[in-house]
Amino acid sequence: MGCSLLPFLLPLLIQISVVAAFTNAGDYAALLALKDVWENEPPNWVGSDPCSDSWEGITCTDSRVTSISLASVNLEGELTADIASLSELQILDLSNNKGLYGPLPQKIGNLKQLTNLQLISCSFSGPIPDTIGSLPMLVTLSLNSNSFTGRIPPSIGNLSTLFWLDLADNQLEGPLPVSDGTNPGLDKLLHTKHFHLGQNKFSGPIPDQLFSSNMVLIHLLLDGNQLTGNVPESLGHVQSLEVVRLDRNSLNGTVPSNLNNLASVRELYLSNNEFTGPLPNLTSLDALLTLDLSNNSFDVSTFPSWIPQSQALVTVRMEGLKLEGPVPVMLFALPNLQTVTLKRNKLNGTLDVGNSFSNQLELIDLEDNSITDYNGPTGGNFDVILVNNPICGETGISESYCKFPTSDAPYSTPPVNCIPIPCSDIRLPAPHANVHSPSQGFYSSKGSSKSPGIGIIIGAAVGGSLLLLLVIPFAKWNSTKSSVGVPQLKGARNFSFEELKKYTKNFSDSNDIGSGGYGKVYRGILQTGELIAIKRAQQGSLQGGLEFKTEIELLSRVHHRNVVSLLGFCFDRGEQMLIYEFVPNGSLKDTLSGKTGIVLDWGRRLKIALGAARGLAYLHELANPPIIHRDIKSTNILLDERLNAKVADFGLSKLLGDVEKGHVTTQVKGTMGYLDPEYYMTQQLTEKSDVYSFGVLLLELLTARNPIERGKYIVREVKMAMDKTKNLYNLTEILDPAIVSGSTLKGLDKFVDLAMTCVEESGAARPPMSEVVKEIENIMQLAGMNPNAESASSSATYEDANKENPDHPYGKESFQYSGTFPPSKIEPH
Ligand SMILES: *[C@@H]1O[C@H](CO)[C@@H](O)[C@H](O)[C@H]1NC(C)=O
Ligand SMILES: *[C@@H]1O[C@H](CO)[C@@H](O)[C@H](O)[C@H]1NC(C)=O
Repeated sequence: MGCSLLPFLLPLLIQISVVAAFTNAGDYAALLALKDVWENEPPNWVGSDPCSDSWEGITCTDSRVTSISLASVNLEGELTADIASLSELQILDLSNNKGLYGPLPQKIGNLKQLTNLQLISCSFSGPIPDTIGSLPMLVTLSLNSNSFTGRIPPSIGNLSTLFWLDLADNQLEGPLPVSDGTNPGLDKLLHTKHFHLGQNKFSGPIPDQLFSSNMVLIHLLLDGNQLTGNVPESLGHVQSLEVVRLDRNSLNGTVPSNLNNLASVRELYLSNNEFTGPLPNLTSLDALLTLDLSNNSFDVSTFPSWIPQSQALVTVRMEGLKLEGPVPVMLFALPNLQTVTLKRNKLNGTLDVGNSFSNQLELIDLEDNSITDYNGPTGGNFDVILVNNPICGETGISESYCKFPTSDAPYSTPPVNCIPIPCSDIRLPAPHANVHSPSQGFYSSKGSSKSPGIGIIIGAAVGGSLLLLLVIPFAKWNSTKSSVGVPQLKGARNFSFEELKKYTKNFSDSNDIGSGGYGKVYRGILQTGELIAIKRAQQGSLQGGLEFKTEIELLSRVHHRNVVSLLGFCFDRGEQMLIYEFVPNGSLKDTLSGKTGIVLDWGRRLKIALGAARGLAYLHELANPPIIHRDIKSTNILLDERLNAKVADFGLSKLLGDVEKGHVTTQVKGTMGYLDPEYYMTQQLTEKSDVYSFGVLLLELLTARNPIERGKYIVREVKMAMDKTKNLYNLTEILDPAIVSGSTLKGLDKFVDLAMTCVEESGAARPPMSEVVKEIENIMQLAGMNPNAESASSSATYEDANKENPDHPYGKESFQYSGTFPPSKIEPH
């Protein structure tokens, strides 16, 4: 066509592309406006069709944007009122973007479909808009770890479906609002299980009206405020309570004796207040694990006799209470007891640990008492501290209990502002070879991983709840001590050895959740209650400082909902540890093998396949630089509480592009059964090797068989049995019986076809992961599922997975106790 036509055609073309775009025009305009005010939005936010073009972090249902999930991506800027135009938005998660600041727009109240508002650990400020109280569907409200000021808007009491309220760690002040006939208040939140209101400046009394027996509250966290007055009697009526933190306030008076009715309480913190009167008798709290009564003015003289009968106790803290007389020997026989701190009392006589003391014991701290003798082991498995007791005052006593243990740090009740101690003196080990061995996945349950090796850890799913801990600047990588500079980290934080020791109860066996050639993986619990997974390299598996630095830099750049995220690392005391999010449902392998009791029907398998494919596609195509995983297999696909798949273990990952383009020549690594034969023969590694392993994974999902079982290779078995002219491709014999029964297996043929193209002999014939993703999405649609219906289908999935506990969508929560673990979406009761 002639040049003269161009001026006419151009606008036409543009118009066509706008008309052809699938995304709702208003939603597109709103995203464009946000993109305009934000820095560092995802690089694929280009073009005019966010829904069809799968903009990173954007999920649509039909043409409407229903979810914005951009946690930990370094977003900067303000959250403008443009957000309010996304009238179908259900999920808004912008957590862990310290560069997001300013007030929340009043218009946020227009988002009538919003179920999840998660803005954890950003820099938002100003008052919480009272329009938040007009979000009728809200289930999760997590505004913790920001700089919000002002009062709690009483309108929050209107949120009748709210499950999770987290306002902790802000600058909020004023009273805790309760309803008064005109205005609502927190007492109206009868379906809320979590009140996380600690670390603010709330003042005034805790209203008696706040609590009632109609509540379903399990976590009441009011610690670190300026609350005064008595603990209301009504608290004793909330039978569902599991964790009660009232510590670090100015509460006074007598603790109501009816707290003894709260039979489910596992943690009770009353420390650092001005309580008087008798200590409550809490004999009936059968589940009590942690009791902290320290630093109050209770009217007690001798050691309370009910405590040694409280069989579940793990931690007992009673510092500064003026206790007199002996410490009962029975206390130490409590079977789970780990930590006893009784500092600054007047306990006297002999400290007798007895013969049948708990084998869990870690510390008995009686610093500053009147103990004259000690009967118990010295230099044993636990520390005893009797510094500043008469027994240590006599000349010539040089027993170990008269000195502080070398790791003397933070056993005491933590200070008000729990600022983690940075690794202050990092010594880099002498560089030697990077000894990553072929890996076995981590969540292979403890004891079952006899085979060699392991790569990196796995983590667990904590949504966007990385908390303030992660933003502590990376200040202390002491570059004067080595030529290795400070790692350039995005969102990952430096942990000290002491901290991790504390979070894992001294790396206790009970927290050991996996092991292998690299070392061990431990579960840890942060002070906030958040679970983490810690991969600890054992001696002999340490990398050189440079390799370790490279690894954490790589991992810290990876942020995707289907990839396990790195929260931090520790390079301290000659140790190398990586800290990951904790993924609660373990590995796909465990579930396929029946270990977890979660039943995977066809729909769930498709959803897991899609999540894993998306994670891998992200590593190949969107991560910067791109990453080849090199060890895709079912032990490295972890499942979160909503059965979202997360790709774990980059122990063997190779950066693409740091060697010559196109392929990377390297020593062959991987796991037998999943290994790409072409890579094995040529030693040329490309992302198509991961595609091969992914194909094997798809076959595993279909058959629940190991890739190599009794000498039979799954790829060959399926090829041989397959007959496309027959029902279910003639594979009924080979399929996992769990999916054959009771399901129509819509799209199974296409799924098998896809798996078989992934395991083509020649890498060039295998599809790239982005095509794999599209094909799985197609199959899901054939099966009547919406591949982007993240929230709805996942909550249903999760509830089904916990049928034994149908009225509690977070049935595993008691195991998980998580201070700031925001559920993504649950169905309101
Ligand atoms: C504590 O209460 C229980 C009953 O709840 C009672 O049997 C016990 O004697 C009380 N102990 C003390 C020391 O008051
Ligand atoms: C311990 O202290 C109590 C009360 O102060 C006193 O009656 C008792 O005799 C003391 N016991 C020993 C062994 O010193």
